[in-house]
Amino acid sequence: MLPDALFPHARRLATASLKPLAAERCDTASLEAPRWTLDLSRQRLDAPAETALLEHGRAAGLEAALADLFSARTVNPSEDRPALHWALRAGTSLEAPECEAVRQSARPADAFAGAVHAGTVVAGDGAPFEAILHIGIGGSDFGPRLVDEALIGPKTSKTLRFCANLDPADFDLAIEGLDPARTLVVGVSKSFGTEETLYNLSRAREWLRRAIGERWIDHVALVTANRDRARAWLGADGGRVFDLPVSVGGRFSIWSAASLACACAAGPGTLASFRAGAARMDAHVLKAPFEENAAIRMALIDFWNTSVLGYPMRAVLAYARRLRLLPAYLQQLEMESNGKSVRPDGTSVSTATAPALWGGEGSIGQHSYHQWLHQGTHVIPAEFILALDPDADPEGSRALTAHALAQAEVLANGRSADEIRADEPGLAPAVAAQKVHAGGRPSSFLACRRFDAEALGALIALYEHRTYLAGRLWGVNSFDQWGVERGKTMAGRINTVLSEGSGADDPVTQALARRLGDIFRD
Ligand code: F6P
Repeated sequence: MLPDALFPHARRLATASLKPLAAERCDTASLEAPRWTLDLSRQRLDAPAETALLEHGRAAGLEAALADLFSARTVNPSEDRPALHWALRAGTSLEAPECEAVRQSARPADAFAGAVHAGTVVAGDGAPFEAILHIGIGGSDFGPRLVDEALIGPKTSKTLRFCANLDPADFDLAIEGLDPARTLVVGVSKSFGTEETLYNLSRAREWLRRAIGERWIDHVALVTANRDRARAWLGADGGRVFDLPVSVGGRFSIWSAASLACACAAGPGTLASFRAGAARMDAHVLKAPFEENAAIRMALIDFWNTSVLGYPMRAVLAYARRLRLLPAYLQQLEMESNGKSVRPDGTSVSTATAPALWGGEGSIGQHSYHQWLHQGTHVIPAEFILALDPDADPEGSRALTAHALAQAEVLANGRSADEIRADEPGLAPAVAAQKVHAGGRPSSFLACRRFDAEALGALIALYEHRTYLAGRLWGVNSFDQWGVERGKTMAGRINTVLSEGSGADDPVTQALARRLGDIFRD
């Protein structure tokens, strides 16, 4: 749908100062969602533009899109599937049998994790597992890593390690100091065909086998939607295989058995609270009135900033040490979901789609790329995520909050030459000019007063819904990822070129392969 009605508003507001706009919208652009307060008043909008944007969202069928998702209709047309990740966190049984089956699918893994955590499922020598090594990549890695960083960390008696990269150094580092006789390897791959994961799993199998012989099989748990391949990989009776439902996409699988390693380390209670927080957000997104619906409002802002105002990026600034992996997690969620330019019917989209998403950890980023955000030539909307821990040192938390608020204020309001002259009379004009902050950089502000597993669940569910709804506004299928397949196929061909020394179609690849290939050939 072309947003024709929105462009006149964008032109009118293009150079408007953000401070008065934000002051006007302070009340109407602040929302309460489960566990999170959301402030959108510093976006480049005024009341008429906001009204037009909401009308655009209504006309684009965002409410129907949510109904489709929660009614298990096909929202992934290229793979002819519904997207049922939300069913994994439903608190009560679901009417549709396929949804209920998804809801139940994580139960065996939860029970197993509880037993590993409690020490009733033990290593081959009868002693409890001391370490869990998670192997997976992309959606089979980012989620569990985020949960570990945000909710577990050192608060567990079991060491939790992750290995994702094809670079052999990743596996070497992941097993550093671990005792294979006391390590459980959790392999997660929805397809069970991903090269990186199969490579690292085979190295893990050898590592276990060398230490404990054929008992290695009792030290492996696999999570997949492709049981046959996983069973064939195990190669013998035994070994544990848990289900990842086919209608749960990899980047939406954090709620599933894909988080088994985290549940083994922290106990299944953490995951239960995490899912409960997401279920609360699901209820909000399904029931809140259109204007008060946090996911709808955020998706509309994404559309407004990217497709109407033309900002090509968004910076996620997580003011919480525990959320420092959030930008990487969201990068996959949003860019793999909506980084597309063709609609499901094969026609090209008519506006820019998902922005480049990047970011990092506040306040650390303030001593790095915030200079670029404040005074660079690009205007990049920012998203502040302040996740407070009331048990943390109050002085540090207050200072962190002050920094987050200060950054958002300066990005929006800037600092003019007049202000600088008034504050620092006599300053050389050339220096004064360099101290000017243009301002006008929009931002959103998300804040949580007591960050915990439930709050993380609510936050991730909010981003999932926002991503799906933004995909609807852009007209793309958020649940497939054809763009990653070509590189995989090509890597297979080039692997052969490297071992044989010839055969590349592309002259640059051939020249590089010739220069590098001797490393791999005797
Ligand atoms: O990067 C492509 C991708 O297919 C992701 O969507 C997915 O999360 C990742 O690879 C891993 O896939 P799998 O879980 O099948 O190993």
